[in-house]
Amino acid sequence: MNSPPVDPLTPVVPLLPPRAPAPDLASVDPTLDLEDEIRRLKRQKNAVLLAHYYQEEEIQDLADFVGDSLDLSRNAQKSEASLIAFAGVRFMAETAKILNPTRKVVLPDYEAGCSLESSAPPEAFRRWREAHPGAVSLTYINCSAAVKALSDIIVTSSNAEKIVRSIPPDKEILFAPDRHLGAWLAQKTGRPMILWPGACIVHEQFSEREIVKLKAKHPDALLAAHPECPESILRYADHVGSTRSILNYVTTAPGKMFLIATEEGILHQMKKLAPDREFIPIPPDNGCRCNECPFMKLNTLEKLYLCLRDERPEIVLPEEIRAAAEKPLLRMLELS
Ligand code: 13P
Ligand code: SF4
Repeated sequence: MNSPPVDPLTPVVPLLPPRAPAPDLASVDPTLDLEDEIRRLKRQKNAVLLAHYYQEEEIQDLADFVGDSLDLSRNAQKSEASLIAFAGVRFMAETAKILNPTRKVVLPDYEAGCSLESSAPPEAFRRWREAHPGAVSLTYINCSAAVKALSDIIVTSSNAEKIVRSIPPDKEILFAPDRHLGAWLAQKTGRPMILWPGACIVHEQFSEREIVKLKAKHPDALLAAHPECPESILRYADHVGSTRSILNYVTTAPGKMFLIATEEGILHQMKKLAPDREFIPIPPDNGCRCNECPFMKLNTLEKLYLCLRDERPEIVLPEEIRAAAEKPLLRMLELS
């Protein structure tokens, strides 16, 4: 009997382990002071709590370090804690595990994904790469470990411009998965790029109409925007950069009032660092609260307490994927 035909595109990327069970919220004693308990568990377990700027205020205040994707990656890489609790989204916790594999990495909710990550399934990404042999693949850190493993260099919004400029001019560039960040980079650097059609569901929602109205009402206000926003928003920006760069800009640039086109969790640090300044989040068009990231906001104090107490859900990656994903991340850190 003839053997079945071999698909030349047979997946080389094994499936990731099954999803973790949902956090057992019913097991949280409602009389506990969760903030005290989280501090106690951190001490008892020699744990470090890393948090992204889009986390709830109380989680940011409990964290040992709050930062953007690049700073969080660096911090995770050098951490000597026995346990890393990552209050962010799953791709960030995975990055911590990839860079520091001997540490146990847990996150409050395993379902904290990202629309950019889900726009790039590993197998489709692999086919895209294969369709462009010879191209260099720059991939935004907002992607799965399996997609990182298939990429040449990872970038974040703080180092992407520098890394694009380091690519020899005769090389074709594939940029995934954020088409808005890619388009902004192409425009800034003058490098044409082939873009993956992904987008952030939060940064795509900001309303151009509201910006025009706010700028008319407050002509001296300066607009700071994240490059995950579409060009229709970025064209009004006085500053475009990563969350850390936005935070630096709005707390140090001359000016009293700033319009903010990124997830509004970051306003917490802005108000702490510059209480005398006014920060106005740009609303979305449709009146919903879509400038909050639904994935980041899955993390709550209860789930953070549970992940420290039970040390799960834990990031577990097949070593083959972890080691392959580490290479483009290390390349990024060298080039940053
Ligand atoms: P940075 O914090 O690196 O700017 O990225 C923001 C982000 O994508 C998280 O959603
Ligand atoms: Fe992903 Fe956008 Fe949420 Fe960031 S804000 S985690 S890019 S969905």
